[in-house]
Amino acid sequence: MKKIYFDQASTSFPKAPGVAEAVFHYLSDSGVNVNRGTYNAAYSVEEEIFDTREQLLRLFHFTSGKGKNVIFTSNITTSLNFLLKGLLRPGDHVLVSAMEHNAVMRPLVQLQKAGVSFDRIPCGPDGALLLSQAESLLRPETKLLVCLHASNVCGTLMPVQEIGDFCRNHGLLFILDTAQTAGILPIDMEALHIDALAFTGHKGLRGPQGTGGFLIRDELSAEMVPLLSGGTGSVSHTEEVPSFLPDRFEPGTPNIPGILGLHAALSCLEQTSMEDLIRHEKKLTEYFLKGIQKLDPEEKYLRLIGKKTSEGRCAVVSLQTLNIDMARAAYELDSQYGIMTRVGLHCAPNAHKTLGTYPQGTIRFSFGPENTVEELDAALYALEKIAGPDPERKAEKKYGF
Ligand code: ALA
Repeated sequence: MKKIYFDQASTSFPKAPGVAEAVFHYLSDSGVNVNRGTYNAAYSVEEEIFDTREQLLRLFHFTSGKGKNVIFTSNITTSLNFLLKGLLRPGDHVLVSAMEHNAVMRPLVQLQKAGVSFDRIPCGPDGALLLSQAESLLRPETKLLVCLHASNVCGTLMPVQEIGDFCRNHGLLFILDTAQTAGILPIDMEALHIDALAFTGHKGLRGPQGTGGFLIRDELSAEMVPLLSGGTGSVSHTEEVPSFLPDRFEPGTPNIPGILGLHAALSCLEQTSMEDLIRHEKKLTEYFLKGIQKLDPEEKYLRLIGKKTSEGRCAVVSLQTLNIDMARAAYELDSQYGIMTRVGLHCAPNAHKTLGTYPQGTIRFSFGPENTVEELDAALYALEKIAGPDPERKAEKKYGF
């Protein structure tokens, strides 16, 4: 059976051309460490890692930053933990959106127990941020606003320019979680007044899992307590954590094969037109949304969650099956039609409370550059067969299968 991968919001597949080869080449032909060895092979790997930092500066238009302002971590969750736990102190107050992922919420809830507080800026039933309500949540001790760029549940985009302006006007730090948008949408750290940007390498950037990081302004890094500490291969005469970037936040041997794979992915992205990528993903999203609405215009068996058109969203579509348990529908999509989706709460419980889909969750379809309209047709067909109003299914429902 041909496999159709619609779980791109979780991790991308296939990876960008050249990624697997870069990882293989490093592991099989080089394998040396960085910042430690005094030999040419080590210097050449260091150079490639430096290039990767420069690629990320360009990608996120961080023109006032330098390579050192790009910190590698193992994923965006680690990055957000570094940023939130490093910056927040007891008494600080934080604003988040009502659509956040647990990568933001769990560190904040942990910090809450240590005296940090937060408020959620409300969002509409389609996940759209109601930024006009943020002002009333401000307090003298509000230090920062952290939010995702796009919902991993329903794809709704946050108004990042307005949020950046709001933060600037109110003297707040702005931290952006780009898990669903890095490599998918243009992000300009300068124009959006972003103080720290967290990214992952394995989703829209199409690099290996275990890669990610954050980009941070010098002013912020100085006041940030490092979450982790250890050897860096630098200032080895002291047991103090280095004060300079990136070493301050990069203890231990990094994921070198992963970063080199990410380097290849970013090189590929630099050769690709982002407009074409956006056009393609928008076309797929629009096609799928229209297809669902055509199949079941009255939402008798399929309920679309979030925005009903491709405007103001990325290529992440959630729906509920009303005639069949969603976990079972997802299982049948995979086992009978080879269609891979994600089902449940997608690590974002409050997003579901906002969208009215808590606690049952949704089936999520997320698309990437290599998905096709033919694959969407297959998914629409399969959904009708699995979740549609056929008598067989009704019988199963009746008898509680
Ligand atoms: N946060 C990722 C997702 O939404 C893993 O699937």
